[in-house]
Amino acid sequence: MSTSLLTPIQAGDLKLANRIIMAPLTRARAGLDHLPNALLAEYYAQRASAGLILSEATMAAADGCAFTAEAGIYDEKRVEGWKLVTDAVHRAGGQIAVQIWHPGRAAHSLLNGGSQPVSSSNKAIRDDTIHTPAGKVPYETPRPLRTDELPGIVETFRKAAVNAKLAGFDSVQVHGAHGYLLDQFLRDSVNDRTDNYGGSIENRARLLFEVIDAVISVFGAGRTGLRISPLVPFNDISDSNPEALVRYVAEQAQLRGLAYFDLRHDQYDRPAERRLAEIARAAYHGTLILNGGFDQAGGEATVAAGLADAIMYGKLFIANPDLVERFRRSAELNTLDFSTLYTPGAKGYTDYPALAA
Ligand SMILES: Cc1cc2nc3c(=O)[nH]c(=O)nc-3n(C[C@H](O)[C@H](O)[C@H](O)COP(=O)(O)O)c2cc1C
Repeated sequence: MSTSLLTPIQAGDLKLANRIIMAPLTRARAGLDHLPNALLAEYYAQRASAGLILSEATMAAADGCAFTAEAGIYDEKRVEGWKLVTDAVHRAGGQIAVQIWHPGRAAHSLLNGGSQPVSSSNKAIRDDTIHTPAGKVPYETPRPLRTDELPGIVETFRKAAVNAKLAGFDSVQVHGAHGYLLDQFLRDSVNDRTDNYGGSIENRARLLFEVIDAVISVFGAGRTGLRISPLVPFNDISDSNPEALVRYVAEQAQLRGLAYFDLRHDQYDRPAERRLAEIARAAYHGTLILNGGFDQAGGEATVAAGLADAIMYGKLFIANPDLVERFRRSAELNTLDFSTLYTPGAKGYTDYPALAA
């Protein structure tokens, strides 16, 4: 019998009941103090049948906020909040990884007590706006991080991993995608540095892997994962050679024995994206997760063909807390309400119905 989305898999130290992974999804329900609460616990526990849940992007640094009401994991109080979530998910039989991030130039001083955003360079996100307490405003010009400040960034992520362990997470995913800080080092449309963190791919990936090694020092490689998105243009970013970039990152992930490698496509079935998946597949022999535009049939075909080990679903998991059961029964799916993606409260968050038993 060929491998299906419902076939269990061992991802590093994590034994996953199926290959249907819940994508990291910012939903802005943690309140202005970035504190996970009972509502988040209910939302994630509803989705505990996923092979693995990835949490929403979660602030590693207290001054690294890009979304009002996003969750943080930078201190003891936030750890206590996350314990509600990890306990609820574990009671429901699931496993959850926290996605830790720093937004870099995608942050704004109005969300961070006046701190100017930082990045690999002084290039701002062009022609776009960010939601702040003062309304929608253009992105600010970031301050390029000095070389001697980079160990501090790595330490921020390491502390977030320590907190993740205290909070009871099963795994940590390092967010290296979507044009946020680590991606601002990775991709060369933004990174114009002349130190050891700019220029060659090896140099541009240095900060990402220093962060990953710091997380491994806390969680072990068997519980550490990585996300990159070399072809996703979100946040005004691109790379001159995405194939070489994905090859290098996949080789490094393989060298370290990372539990899972999450390759986020803009749309998975475009030829250029498929080529990236093939490159990652050839270089990395752990659990390769693909994401971006999959439906059930596309996911099944990709796993059966061996191009990926598991498939990650984002929007389908927002609207279908029991997505795994719906796939099992080939049942109809709920429709996503885009208007409640980031609004406060339970509406459009915990009130999507599950199938009748
Ligand atoms: C509302 C929303 C919030 C998202 N938040 C995050 C996030 O916090 N971290 C992240 O890496 N990706 C985030 N994404 C991207 C998703 O993880 C996923 O890559 C994207 O939705 C494509 O998968 P899909 O086609 O299955 O929806 C978000 C997407 C949506 C729609």
